[in-house]
Amino acid sequence: MRTQVAIIGGGPAGMLLGQLLHVSGIESVVLERKNRDYVLSRIRAGVLEQGLVDLMDQAGCGDRMRREGIKHDSTLIAYGDQMFDVDFVAHSGRSVMIYGQTELTRDLYDARAAVGAPLIEDVEDVQVIDSDGDSPSVSYRKDGVNYRIHCDFIAGCDGFHGVSRQSIPATIRREYEKVYPFGWLGILSETPPVNEALIYANSDRGFALCSMRNPKLSRYYIQCCQEDRVEDWADEAFWAELKRRLPADVADVLVTGPSIEKSIAPLRSFVCEPMRWGRLFLCGDAAHIVPPTGAKGLNTAASDVRYLFDAIAKFYDGDQAGIDGYSARALARVWKVERFSWWFSSLMHRFPDQTEFDLKMQRAELDFLRDSPAAQAAFAQNYVGLPY
Ligand code: APR
Ligand code: PHB
Repeated sequence: MRTQVAIIGGGPAGMLLGQLLHVSGIESVVLERKNRDYVLSRIRAGVLEQGLVDLMDQAGCGDRMRREGIKHDSTLIAYGDQMFDVDFVAHSGRSVMIYGQTELTRDLYDARAAVGAPLIEDVEDVQVIDSDGDSPSVSYRKDGVNYRIHCDFIAGCDGFHGVSRQSIPATIRREYEKVYPFGWLGILSETPPVNEALIYANSDRGFALCSMRNPKLSRYYIQCCQEDRVEDWADEAFWAELKRRLPADVADVLVTGPSIEKSIAPLRSFVCEPMRWGRLFLCGDAAHIVPPTGAKGLNTAASDVRYLFDAIAKFYDGDQAGIDGYSARALARVWKVERFSWWFSSLMHRFPDQTEFDLKMQRAELDFLRDSPAAQAAFAQNYVGLPY
């Protein structure tokens, strides 16, 4: 088999890239280790930057997002019994879109199926071959049969545990990592959101987040110990702890209900440099991970995809510059997003080794963010999405 772009990974990065290539007449094949149902069963964040909203429109996949997505012009930040809002539009001229990653990925799967572009699911033993030459290829096995796809480019969109990053020689790869000493316990409940806006809460018991998917579906998180297991947390215990971490007037109106999904996610910051090796290009979680505090995982996968799509399209127009500049261009934005995600996580969570002085620093930073238009402008510009 031959194609122009072999895409390893059928998550949001791979599927968005595939759709952008398709609408530009560039052929691709997506190889997914799991399958549509498995991919769509994963609950992930739900805040889209304007850049991603625009890319979904460009890919011809934005209709349902625009119908069902919820535009948010601000967010709330709570600490102790205080709560203030940061107005994104006043400080950045932009807003964000609340629309679950699961739904966005569903829209991309439906779009690829509608145009009949190749998506090969349940593949095994994917391998990158000769990516540093002019005739790269990808091999894989399906139903016991070995296959090989010859291509011009390989897009490594296979997430943190994929094969693509490992296909860059260890002597070339530089990896940067920070593991946070806590996790996030998240639940999905068919209850009305506690507030129209998201609430990020710093409490003396730890971080909490009140989010949503739609007016009847809420998403809540509390910081938990790294060692915690989901079975350690009955719904009642979760709701009681969440209420303790919210301002009293918020906790009083919180509508609780049975969890329809409950999971614990570890928090880490991670970056791999470079994001290119010959004709292999890393996108999304394959190249970088952020703590979910700033909702930047999906959105940074999107900016990678935009840069790679532009580079490949220009290559076929005879211009190699985009390909040669991809890694540096993507990493320049990745590191700024890593910084914001690290800063916001450091501001809002309780760390086991925090001293009284450290707590005073957190409090002073929150007071400054509450009182300073300049601080709120910096927050807003990062949260709504830095320019591509
Ligand atoms: N071969 C084929 N597919 C693979 C392989 C492999 N060797 N390894 C992993 N995959 C698939 C996974 O099954 C998954 O569907 O690649 C896909 C990677 O998707 P994500 O992990 O979602 O990563 P990405 O597309 O970069 O999206 C980043 O999605 O999961 C969230 O937190 C993440 O918000 C971030 C965003
Ligand atoms: C979510 O709704 O899952 C969500 C929202 C905002 C975040 C993280 C997660 O910062």
